[in-house]
Amino acid sequence: MIVVAHRGASGYAPENTLAALALARGQGADMAEIDVRSTRDGELVVMHDPTLVRTTDAVRRFPGRRPWRVRDFTLEEIRRLDAGSWFGPDYAGERVPTLGEALGVLRATGIGALVELKVERRTPEAGARLADAVRSDRYWLGAGRGGRLILQSFDWATLRVLAEEVPGLRTAALGRPYSRYGLRRVARYVQQLHPHHLRVTAAYVRRVHDQGMRMFGWTVNHPSAIRRLVRDGVDGIITDYPDRVADYRALA
Ligand code: G3P
Ligand code: CA
Repeated sequence: MIVVAHRGASGYAPENTLAALALARGQGADMAEIDVRSTRDGELVVMHDPTLVRTTDAVRRFPGRRPWRVRDFTLEEIRRLDAGSWFGPDYAGERVPTLGEALGVLRATGIGALVELKVERRTPEAGARLADAVRSDRYWLGAGRGGRLILQSFDWATLRVLAEEVPGLRTAALGRPYSRYGLRRVARYVQQLHPHHLRVTAAYVRRVHDQGMRMFGWTVNHPSAIRRLVRDGVDGIITDYPDRVADYRALA
């Protein structure tokens, strides 16, 4: 059972920062999840929300730029923001990482990457950029789609294109459960399904396994939910508290 640190170890450090990613391995995570979006100048940065409001000081620094959408700021502007103070004073000065920086930290710590391509107007373009960033990287992409990087998205059309275009790229569909017919169709271009944890049942896990896919559930933080998903037979758990899932796995 694979432990995935959601937005890094985001229960303990500001989400989607290098600090949160650096913590993940020490907490027993096998992989870390990051969210990726495109800036105005087409660079890929690690940020969950479509706007910079919640997790940076953009409102104070750029008061005239309402509604502070990531896609309206250049990389150079985003680099000036503080992405840690909202979480606590110990993290003041944390920056919004680029995709390359985030992958660099995960590689240095020796854990895998679950990269979520966020859905917006320019998702196909961001997907093409992401593909270019990893296309010839043997470390991240393995033979037979068994590499250390998994690309997930709610945008299945883009997943399908990228799965065809990037040999070795392992893909995962985010979303709600499917019929048997729907599972067969999606299994043509993804190797994994990642439903919300409340959608997971033992029968659904079996149906997904029958189609040759793996299942990871998100976002699973409460001990009773962790127990239930393990009992249902999922292959991975995406959590803000990797230590809780790793501890449970060690005892099971
Ligand atoms: O890993 C799945 C999960 O991250 C999807 O939801 O909103 O946390 O990106 P969200
Ligand atoms: Ca995510």
